Amino acid sequence: MLVLGIETSCDETGVAVYHSEKGLLSHVLYSQVDMHNDYGGVVPELASRDHIRKLVPLIRQGMNDAKVSAQAVDGVAYTAGPGLMGALLVGAATARSLAWSWQVPAIAVHHMEGHLLAPMLEAEPPQFPFVALLISGGHTLLIQVDGIGRYRLLGESLDDAAGEAFDKTAKLLGLSYPGGAKLSKLAEQGAPRFKFPRPMTDRPGLDFSFSGLKTHALTIFNATAKTLQDKADIALAFEDAIAETLMIKCSRALTQTGFKRLVVAGGVSANSKIRAYLLKMAQAEAVRLYFPRLEFCTDNGAMIAFAGCQRLLAGQKQNLEIFARPRWPLEDLI
Ligand code: KG4
Ligand code: ZN
Repeated sequence: MLVLGIETSCDETGVAVYHSEKGLLSHVLYSQVDMHNDYGGVVPELASRDHIRKLVPLIRQGMNDAKVSAQAVDGVAYTAGPGLMGALLVGAATARSLAWSWQVPAIAVHHMEGHLLAPMLEAEPPQFPFVALLISGGHTLLIQVDGIGRYRLLGESLDDAAGEAFDKTAKLLGLSYPGGAKLSKLAEQGAPRFKFPRPMTDRPGLDFSFSGLKTHALTIFNATAKTLQDKADIALAFEDAIAETLMIKCSRALTQTGFKRLVVAGGVSANSKIRAYLLKMAQAEAVRLYFPRLEFCTDNGAMIAFAGCQRLLAGQKQNLEIFARPRWPLEDLI
């Protein structure tokens, strides 16, 4: 089965062509980050307009790269949520219209399911069941994954998502949006001078709370001379706190489920400090750890094409409705 995948939920336009037997045939991405940079965050209306400008040329490019014609496509997968409504509608309307004109099914994909399944595009994909830690700009989720569409929420962030906490702290340190990776780079020059709390690790449970870390960073920042070294030291302490907290909760989730496989995905899973902490835990606890390749940690069309293909193969498809849900709990999926 050959599936065209379209991702437009936020500030990246992603297109990919995936074949159920041959694997990923192409993927192309256009990032809007430079455009939103001037505003310190994503401007929804600008995002929608830019998706409109870029999507059709990207679809052409993706199909050319994959050397496939419209007649060869068996289904069109699109991100239907969660995300920015206007941005989602661009992808949904385009995908639905293409599917209609090509007389193939369209399938609405949950963005976080895309992230969750992204490690399955790699050479040694994880077997079910596993625990998944999804860490992105909008979500921090711990999920028990028993199979495709069989997801049980184990824990989630009660306030800021991990990526959001990274971005807000990065902004405090004078780094441009999205600041997660830049904060991490700055932390490399940091000295171990401050110790931040590990929120909600002193009590049972698998939920997270990261907004206090941002406030903690602000309090410490205001008490320093705000030199580059001060900023790097704060970045290091902040990153350590997030990484160790995530590690503690993952270890707990693995103990609770008895599973020995951990999948980590979403934009923040590109972070090397977090990877190092999780790797240490995985080695100590004989757990197998799975990450997507770096370019599939952040938003992309490949994960949507892949997730859509699995659902189409299972016989699912949407009617002619253009389906977009800005808020869409992952547990609602079946
Ligand atoms: O999954 P993603 O591309 O978009 C959403 O679905 O939200 O995640 C984007 C988030 C941003 O908050 C960005 O700062 C963060 O991932 N991020 C990182 C790193 N690379 C991306 N955070 C920390 N360290 C990184 N290396
Ligand atoms: Zn994402």
